[in-house]
Order: sequence, then structure tokens, then C-alpha cells
Amino acid sequence: MCGIVGYIGDGIANNVLLEGLKKLEYRGYDSCGIATIVGGTFDVFKTTKRIDGLVQYAKKAPESHIGLGHTRWATHGGVNEKNAHPHISNSKKIAVVHNGIIENYITLREMLKSKGFTFMSDTDTEVISNLIEYYYKGNLLEATKKAVDMVEGSYALGIMCIDEPNEIVVTKRNSPLIVGLGDGENFIASDFSAILKYTNRISVLENDEFAVIEKNGMAFFDKNAEPRGNEIKIIGAKENDVEKNGYDHFMLKEINESTITIKNTLSEYLKDDKIKFDLKLTNEELKNINQIHIVACGTAMHAGLNGKNIIEKLTRIPVNVEVASEFRYKNPILKENDLVIFISQSGETADTIASIELVKEKNIKFISIVNVKESTIDRMSENILYTRAGAEIAVASTKAYVAQVCVIDLFAIYLAQILKTVSDKVLKSLILELKNIHEKVQAALEDDKKYIEYAKKIKDDKSVFFLGRGIDYYIALEASLKLKEISYIHSEATQFGELKHGPIALIEEGTNSIVVSTDKRLRSKVYSNIKEIKARGANVLLITNEKSPQPEFYDDIIELPEVNELFSPIVAIVPLQLVAYHVTILKGLDVDKPRNLAKSVTVE
Ligand code: AGP
Repeated sequence: MCGIVGYIGDGIANNVLLEGLKKLEYRGYDSCGIATIVGGTFDVFKTTKRIDGLVQYAKKAPESHIGLGHTRWATHGGVNEKNAHPHISNSKKIAVVHNGIIENYITLREMLKSKGFTFMSDTDTEVISNLIEYYYKGNLLEATKKAVDMVEGSYALGIMCIDEPNEIVVTKRNSPLIVGLGDGENFIASDFSAILKYTNRISVLENDEFAVIEKNGMAFFDKNAEPRGNEIKIIGAKENDVEKNGYDHFMLKEINESTITIKNTLSEYLKDDKIKFDLKLTNEELKNINQIHIVACGTAMHAGLNGKNIIEKLTRIPVNVEVASEFRYKNPILKENDLVIFISQSGETADTIASIELVKEKNIKFISIVNVKESTIDRMSENILYTRAGAEIAVASTKAYVAQVCVIDLFAIYLAQILKTVSDKVLKSLILELKNIHEKVQAALEDDKKYIEYAKKIKDDKSVFFLGRGIDYYIALEASLKLKEISYIHSEATQFGELKHGPIALIEEGTNSIVVSTDKRLRSKVYSNIKEIKARGANVLLITNEKSPQPEFYDDIIELPEVNELFSPIVAIVPLQLVAYHVTILKGLDVDKPRNLAKSVTVE
């Protein structure tokens, strides 16, 4: 997704903008640009090269103390310099950077054209810069309010005007934007990791609010552009969270942080082996739940599938898992005693946010499982269970997935305790196993050489199958997503029992198939299915927690430490994340910033 950084202060604006944009590179982008005010005009540089293109420019650029920077992930208009941000208005008075989508930009553009405006780019953002100019009569905040009142869609905006060179105006609607407080300098950013180097004091804008940022202060305004008070929050993330700390890539660092992530996440809720959740839902309300819906996207949705497995097994409450982009438009059947659980690492995923808004409108109880504090979903939710994964920079989610599974496993046990659907003795043993599962993850991490060897076997494949039954199919789904989103090798996860209903037609001599088998109850069925595909020439990598299975059932094997299949996703996913990582490295691809992808999908 696009990234925004802004600066005003005693320092050199370009230096701060470039540092900030580099921290936002992980979000994915295909062009970038900066604009500063120098000698009463805008100094603008935009490029489709990486940030390094800006660095070269900034070395010879005139110094300024106010500026805006942007990384663009193309939505409206192709990848080229004219579509890159910042966008400058016709009279060269107004500069704008924008995250989000202006849905009525064509109507607004036609209106502006009828007033004599011309357009250089194909973007929706350029419409905003000209619309602000159209309303500008000497007060930038006033002109901005009038402009955004005309807008339908989502936006986070940073705005400068050469006639008001001592301020940056910001406003947002359904796209994240924060203000950072410094000493003799202030900042704006779409993600606090961009400015963490300079300050951990932030203020958050709510939808349709405004702020005017000056060097020595800032003023906040409500939806009617009336002054309002301002609350300063201290962000806990450490600067080194957004550094590689000696690893070659963020993804490798974050996979290896899974053990500390599990410990931190579990310690948040386990006190003397008892689960303590700070939920506003009473035990009575939880006892009356008839149906649970888990709503999320991508990897978070896969974590939700694991939640379905364990909640249904421990409580017998039916769980329906939906991708947020479907849920928000299907007029979901929600009843008074339903509970919805939203899962989001970033807390900024547009489809998940929209699904929360829908559930709030219907006054249905919901819990949000979120990794980023002060994110939009955090601030929208009353009942929150934080994952403690720390900043996850690589686009491919790894440690956050493991943390999400841990939280939802704890929630399932918590629910079973309240509903008394499982004996305390069994629940206590589950808690103990979960409490020590990081040791099994550590053991899985140490087998990296084996994962590299297997990665060499599949790195040139055109397609790879991931197969499993029950919980192992859910693990296969997540593993398949990892491989395809970073190595660009097509892969698909299929319920193993479903293979002979069609997909087995794709199995031929040499087809590489990765079989996940941690559920003992289904082991013999899986072995029969393996025989079916091996009879048709498939090569099988078996991921199993069975000790020394018969060699006839595999060509390669990854033996997992003994683990209860309720918790097997936490352990089994680690080798599969590392196989995907090594395949990508062997292919010489950008493992932390895969093409076409963004870390948080803040647009539909
Ligand atoms: C996972 O590797 C992807 N980055 C993507 O599927 C991601 O899980 C999805 O976009 C949901 O993001 P969220 O957890 O921040 O809401």
C-alpha cells in the first residue's frame, strides 16, 4: 500500500522524508516522490525507481524545512512519473500526497475541467490538489474542508500550500494517518514505523478530522473543522523492531522470532496457568453464544480456520469462517447471540474494517484480534485481544500468523472453561502444552538445512500441490499462500479426500506434492491418498508428527516434534514458511517486498 511521510521543523526535510519512506518500503510500492517548499515554490522530484532514486536527487536538492514524501502502489493510472505523488495543482500553489481511493474522482475532474482546470496525470489524487486550489481563498484548512466534503471514498491526505509555507494540513477517512510530535519539529506518517526514529509520541486522527501541523505545535479540528483537544499517545514499538538485526531479510528474522512471539503473546494472557482476558463480554454473554463467525483476509483468515477447528472441537459451537471481502457484501445472517471474531495483523485492512462497521451497525457482539496498537481496527473495537508479534515488516505474514493462532487457541480453551464442555484436567493439560510449544517451534527452526535441500527440488517448478485433511488442510492453505506470494510459483491447497473428485487429473510424473499430516485420526486415510498420487508419479514431501513412518509414503520427509493436532499449525507452518523463503532466495527474488503486494491492503 502507499506510504506517506511529512516533516516541518528545524531539520532538513529531505533527510527525514527519505528516512521515513525507506521504513515504508516494506508496504510495497512502484513509484515514489518528494516535494519541499524552497524560495516560495515547490521543489518536486518523482521516480519509478526505488527510493534510491530520491536519495540521489536529494544529494543535490536545495535545503528546505518543510516537505511531503510518498510511495505509490498504483490504483488509478499506470506506473510512471506523472502519476507518482506528490501532485501539484494547476497554479503550482497546492501539493498533495494521498493514500486511498477517491471513488467520485471522474465527476470531480469533469467539474474542475468545466472550471478551466487541466490534468497532467491519470490519478484520482491530482483531482484533490486542484479541488483544494479551486476552494483556496487564503485559508488552507478551510479549502481542504470544502474539498473533502465533495469527496466519496477513502483518503489520508498531506497538503502544503506555497502561500502558507509554515504549515502542513492533514485529514483522513478510512485510511491510516498519524501525527508525530517532536521538539522544534513535527511529523506526519501513514504508519508510525516511518517516524519512530524521531519520536514515539503520536496523535491519531479519527475519520473526517483535520490537523494543522507547524514547526512548534499543531492544532486539531473535528469533522466541522472546529478546534478540538488532542491526546498524545506513546508508541511502545522499539526502533529495532523495524531493523533486520543481522538477518538477511525481515521475513527470515520474523520466522525466527516466532518463539519469542509465542512466549510474549501467551504471557499476555496466561497468569499462573490461568487465562485472563480483558473482555467486556460477560461470562453470561459468552455462555449464550450460539454461532461464531470468524472474519479476516489472507493469512489472518487461515488463522481463523484453525480457530474454527479448535473452537468446534472444544466447545461444539458452530464456527463459520469468511473472507472479509465476501462477508461485507453478502448481507450476512447474524443473530443476537452470534459472536464475530475479526483477525488482522495490521488493523488497517479495508475489507475487514468495512466488515466491522457492518457488524457494529447490526449491534452484534465482536472481538478483534489485532497486532498493531492504535491501528484503525484497534480503535474501532471494544473487545480486543492483542497479538504480541511486534512490528511485522515482511509482506508475507509469518510470526503474526503464529501469534494469531496462539490467541485463538487460548480463546477456545477459555470458552470451553466457561461452557464446561471439557474437563478442567484436560484444559489444564492443553494450557501446559501451549505454554511450552515454543520449544517445539525452536526445534523446527533448527532443521533449516533440510528445508534448503527441499527448496532446491521445487524452485523451478511451475506448480506445487499442498495436501491435507481437516486441520492439516488449513495448514496447507497457509503454506500454499506463502509459497505463491513470495516465490511466484503457482500452488494450490486441496483437501486430500477431494483430490479424486477432479484435481488428481493434474497429478503427473514428477508433480511435487507437499502433504501435511499431523492429525493421527486421519493418518491412514492420508496414507491411502498418498498411494493414489504416488501411483501417478507424484513426488511427496511428508510433513508429519509420526515417528519414522513407512518410507513407501514419502520421497522426502520433515518430521515434526510430537504435537497435539489442535496446536499443530503453530509448529507445522514453520518448516513450510522456511521452504517458501529459501525457494524465493534461490530464485533471486525480493522476499520482503514481493511484486504487486502490500503489507496492509488499505483499499478494496
Ligand atoms: C499474508 O502473508 C499476506 N500479507 C496477506 O494475506 C495478509 O495476511 C492479509 O492481507 C491480511 O492482512 P491483515 O492481517 O493485516 O488484515
